[in-house]
Amino acid sequence: MISQPLIRMPAVSAINVPPMVEEQLSATERDRLVARIKTLMAQHNAVLVAHYYTSAELQDLAEATGGCVSDSLEMARFGHAHAAKTLIVAGVKFMGETAKILNPEKRVLMPDLDANCSLDLACPADQFSAFCDQHPERVVVVYANTSAAVKARADWVVTSGTAVKIVAHLHAQGKKILWAPDKYLGDYVQKTTGADMLLWQGACVVHEAFKAEALAKMKLDYADAAVLVHPESPAAVIALADVVGSTTQLINAARTLPNPAFIVATDNGIFHKMQAVAPGKTFLEAPTAGVGATCKSCAHCPWMAMNGLQKLAQVLETGANEILVDEPTRQRAVHSIQRMLDFAAQQQIKPSVGGND
Ligand code: 13P
Ligand code: SF4
Repeated sequence: MISQPLIRMPAVSAINVPPMVEEQLSATERDRLVARIKTLMAQHNAVLVAHYYTSAELQDLAEATGGCVSDSLEMARFGHAHAAKTLIVAGVKFMGETAKILNPEKRVLMPDLDANCSLDLACPADQFSAFCDQHPERVVVVYANTSAAVKARADWVVTSGTAVKIVAHLHAQGKKILWAPDKYLGDYVQKTTGADMLLWQGACVVHEAFKAEALAKMKLDYADAAVLVHPESPAAVIALADVVGSTTQLINAARTLPNPAFIVATDNGIFHKMQAVAPGKTFLEAPTAGVGATCKSCAHCPWMAMNGLQKLAQVLETGANEILVDEPTRQRAVHSIQRMLDFAAQQQIKPSVGGND
């Protein structure tokens, strides 16, 4: 058990969560837009890289056009390896920035530049940098859900699929860690590795809303179900999990475990892929405070929901919403991201559905 020193953490200001606004299209409108987007993508030598939390239409389109649907580690790797001149990133801002940092020669477009993330918003670069300055003896490890400027201040970037292995590796070298921004993921990594970690106090508004007490009751009602939990969830929820992992790791668990049903504590956008890889199995949302109560997200990320086919067609037509990262920031940030990709390759972490992790 590590005794944490008494350190005053910078206060995290309240995050303004946008209302949930999802695109509503008729089947005819959707088919027309998909056809138009496919033509535009071919014209612009573009590939679509989408996260599992985006709409089923975007996920299907990414796969139908030779792009990828994945967790944030694989999104970074896929975009970097692909020959397309334009990467369209359907996800949130940090995913677009990571793509640009790794691929300065490529054009990176996003359907909506306001698609952010409560973790990124909770960690302003100036405050974070000042905090790092106060702890020069610590290795700075930041979650991928951060701005380019925060990554530029880091020694390592990690994703949910690599965090435990990278921190364990640093701990084995006797390193102390300064971790940001997710306090729950940081706590999980600390407990799993035993590393000495100083945690920034950010949280994901989606995962923070899952409720342990209600989940424990739900488990009793679904005795055959395995509980799959993303590690951005609170410790009491993680404690009830059969599997804790990145989105890809949770999808792989749904595919390989023998259970007929799963209670899933992550964004419900993931059900589209889970149902595809494990047809016939039942997927249930882990309980949040519920509609009309205190949850702000109710198991769906309002920023991920900002992505849609209409906006995607528009950015391809106009070239709007290009992600730009200034060169000095990019040059500093690329090392910490590339370090993670090299580590993942060395450790053979293959975060794709059907991979070994
Ligand atoms: P993954 O890398 O596990 O997909 O997580 C990204 C994310 O934002 C989860 O909320
Ligand atoms: Fe960020 Fe949470 Fe949305 Fe993931 S689900 S992008 S961590 S706010």
